[in-house]
Amino acid sequence: MKGILIKRGAEAELRKTTWLGKIALKKMRVPKAYRARELDNEIRAQRTRQEARALHAVKAWGIRTPFVFEARPKESLLVMEWIEGKTLKETLQDPKTPRAQKIKWCRELGHIMGLLHAHECVHGDLTTSNVLVRKNKRGMELVLIDFGLAFYSHKLEDLAVDVIGLKKTYNATHFDFPAGWNAVVKGYTRTFKNARKVLAHMNEVEGRVRYA
Ligand SMILES: Nc1ncnc2c1ncn2[C@@H]1O[C@H](COP(=O)(O)OP(=O)(O)O)[C@@H](O)[C@H]1O
Ligand SMILES: [Mg+2]
Repeated sequence: MKGILIKRGAEAELRKTTWLGKIALKKMRVPKAYRARELDNEIRAQRTRQEARALHAVKAWGIRTPFVFEARPKESLLVMEWIEGKTLKETLQDPKTPRAQKIKWCRELGHIMGLLHAHECVHGDLTTSNVLVRKNKRGMELVLIDFGLAFYSHKLEDLAVDVIGLKKTYNATHFDFPAGWNAVVKGYTRTFKNARKVLAHMNEVEGRVRYA
């Protein structure tokens, strides 16, 4: 089950492989030399565990994620369903994607973030690279990935930091499409009843950072 290397990220090696005859993605968290070994093993196991649990849990709220095929936290190994498609980042950057479609995806991303937050789940690494766009029978759909930093919290601050993380990476990556961010906020507000509170808190946190 070695598979073809598709990405070597800062944290993990991703390989395309098969699992019981299905095309699968193997995510292997690699050791970090700068961390003491015991601690490093614990961190990688913990992230693998969190990712496997969250990938599964959020499905109950209607969020699409890859199916988890196998999780071995002690080996920092996760095997999941292969999602055929592009990242949302690529889709938004593709000049062939119609503007109206881009707005729709951004609103859908806000909707997904709202569903997570309504269930007190913080993703921890929301970016347009951690959302995949795939074809289904009727059209296209978004699939959320990369839950290694996910955790549960009811604190406004934690939810606000999640939104700020997305906003920062969004603005850095899609600076030429600010309308998309407004659509994210719209989707978020329509889905999550406390969205306005989180957004207000977000302005407060941003102000704090700015004037610190
Ligand atoms: N289940 C999957 N199916 C297909 N491609 C995937 C899958 N999971 C991740 N990828 C690809 O690998 C990239 C990195 O995966 P990710 O889980 O975000 O790891 P990292 O922690 O390195 O960011 C994604 O942006 C996507 O292109
Ligand atoms: Mg990622």
